[in-house]
Amino acid sequence: MSLDSRINLQKLPKHVAIIMDGNGRWAKQQGEQRVFGHQNGVRSVKECTEAAAELGIEYLTMYAFSAENWNRPQEEVNALMSLLVSTINSELDTLNKNKIRLMAIGDLKSLPNECYNELMSAIDNTKNNDRLTLVLALSYSSKQEITFAAKAIANDVLNGAISIDSITEETIPKYLFTSNIPDPELMIRTSGEHRISNFLMWQLSYAELYFTDKLWPEFERQDFFDAIVDYQKRERRFGKTSEQLTE
Ligand code: IPE
Ligand code: IPE
Ligand code: MG
Repeated sequence: MSLDSRINLQKLPKHVAIIMDGNGRWAKQQGEQRVFGHQNGVRSVKECTEAAAELGIEYLTMYAFSAENWNRPQEEVNALMSLLVSTINSELDTLNKNKIRLMAIGDLKSLPNECYNELMSAIDNTKNNDRLTLVLALSYSSKQEITFAAKAIANDVLNGAISIDSITEETIPKYLFTSNIPDPELMIRTSGEHRISNFLMWQLSYAELYFTDKLWPEFERQDFFDAIVDYQKRERRFGKTSEQLTE
């Protein structure tokens, strides 16, 4: 399939983050259980991953399960965890064929053993792939991530590895799960909700936000391209005036 000719390949974001929302509502519209929505959301994950890889985007982060999502009915949590295991398993060959490296951020140790092991083995298995890096946010909470970072920094001050005076804005990201990953320039959220839901709050400080009413299982390759086209029309000023940018 061809790429979208409206997209300027010289002005691509390096990192796109997505809050995949609306699986439950989509399933309800179809008269099905919520799990049916999650199962159908996998197709959208695959389409976006392929589209991002074809464009040459370097990082794609997908919010797959939040720390707060543990509070959902146990049956739904279980279904999401088994879907994670089966999807990683069935997609591993495709990831390698497309040279996609898998990574994960979040409180991964809180995942059920089977999930954790499957995830770690896929991460290890794809670690030398050098096209797109697909980052899954699992049991992820931005507040928790920043809390872990604060503790680790305090610990390094106590053991003498760093001094308080050496702590700068560049220090904090080194202690986040996303150290070594550039901040996303674009964040997409589906399903018409206009909120961050505890996702990458430090990293999204200057991201362009793109919202669409489409529910996640309806989100397709072309919708991903639309978001990139929209992003490329934005003027990213970083506090400066518009005139300063063209000087
Ligand atoms: C997003 O869809 C998937 C996860 C949070 C795991 P939802 O399950 O939140 O769907 P809605 O928001 O209830 O429609
Ligand atoms: C955010 O979606 C988390 C994921 C997409 C995994 P939710 O549907 O859980 O978000 P809220 O709770 O409605 O904000
Ligand atoms: Mg939701």
